[in-house]
Amino acid sequence: MSAIQVGPLREPWESRLLVPGDKSISHRALMLAAMSDGPCRLSDLSQGKDAESTLRCLKLMGVSARRDRADLLLSGWGNRWQEPDRVLDCGNSGTSMRLLTGILAGCPGLCVLSGDASLRKRPMGRVLEPLLEMGARVRGRQGNRLAPLVVEGTELQGIYHQLKVASAQVKSCILLAGLKAGGTTVLEEPQQSRDHTERMLSHLGVRITRDENRLHLSPAERIPAFDCRVPGDVSSAAFLVTAALISPGSRVIIDEVGLNPTRTAYLDLLRQMGARITTRVTRTELGEPVGSIEALGSELVGINVPESEIPGAIDELPILAVAASQAKGTTLVRGASELRVKESDRIHSTVTELRKLGAEVDELEDGFAVHGPTPLKGAAVECHHDHRLEMSLAVAGLVARGKTRIQGTGWAAISFPSFWQSFPGPWQEL
Ligand code: S3P
Repeated sequence: MSAIQVGPLREPWESRLLVPGDKSISHRALMLAAMSDGPCRLSDLSQGKDAESTLRCLKLMGVSARRDRADLLLSGWGNRWQEPDRVLDCGNSGTSMRLLTGILAGCPGLCVLSGDASLRKRPMGRVLEPLLEMGARVRGRQGNRLAPLVVEGTELQGIYHQLKVASAQVKSCILLAGLKAGGTTVLEEPQQSRDHTERMLSHLGVRITRDENRLHLSPAERIPAFDCRVPGDVSSAAFLVTAALISPGSRVIIDEVGLNPTRTAYLDLLRQMGARITTRVTRTELGEPVGSIEALGSELVGINVPESEIPGAIDELPILAVAASQAKGTTLVRGASELRVKESDRIHSTVTELRKLGAEVDELEDGFAVHGPTPLKGAAVECHHDHRLEMSLAVAGLVARGKTRIQGTGWAAISFPSFWQSFPGPWQEL
């Protein structure tokens, strides 16, 4: 098992950098390119293992992909869709499994989807239930709750469905299935989750409209070929933004990053905590605003995170806990029980590991309370097989006295393979 030792940041950090392509947008760009008339040129895709999982699965269905420097040229499968002759291995990626299941429900042939030990524990009933309502032939282990999943493509019907949880993966699964269904698909979300699928479909000419929290999708005969340059991942940027904020005198600028408002709640919450953050939109791509973020070392204060902000900051809650440990007063996160079914139980893993560093954190059923500011002290901590935990602990190590030994590393490569190269503090592999 590998480990990385992180030391405290001794001087203010100044940097201007880029982060790799957005994971959520990369999955969707790959899948829609595969479904398109093709070929498509996709630039700056995430190089993370999760996006690789999606590509690996698509190749088993007849998609051909060729690298051309930083670009990927992808053929649409058009008439070449083929029934995969192996299990589709989604690795650690919930997005690959849930979105591909939606696509496959309407494709001819039989597919089996599986993944690593963490993915095989994550809830899949939330996608199988609505797909079954659409007429899909899908099965999962333990009464349709868990992967491996078996999908036998068939004709689907549009449905009206109220999502029980605000989940972009569930929403996107149904929308992608709805593209091939007979009739309109109407979805109602309890709260708005990230809307990349809607933006991309609309950009590609699919009829999809939103009124308040209700989406209406018309089936699409074809998806036209497209080219795109994937914006940088704002969720990866969050680690570097936080590193600058909690290190007095530091300043970081991150360019060419996605600034979709359904993904930037974290930046808004930090601003409410007193963070000096500015964003500037410079262009749009696939209907997504793209621009830069500047963050300066700041004095933070604790806040009550409104539950309405949780879906927009869901992936940033572990790193928010790190920022909160350096903020004056209590930061309260509630209504975030979805964190329990992420790559790790992120409520438990975040609380357990930050406590080892001396943070004062209470574990709540549906969130956590962090009491700050606390001077952290280096200790041995664990990643819980979770990329966002590895990166959050690394950032905590920047302000901890002494050495922080992060054990079971290697997970950052899921979403941010160059994380350690961008990391401002001293670190070494053990
Ligand atoms: C994602 C949606 C979120 C997020 C995940 C990526 C997506 O999950 O946590 O990292 O690309 O749609 P949920 O939609 O299940 O909350």
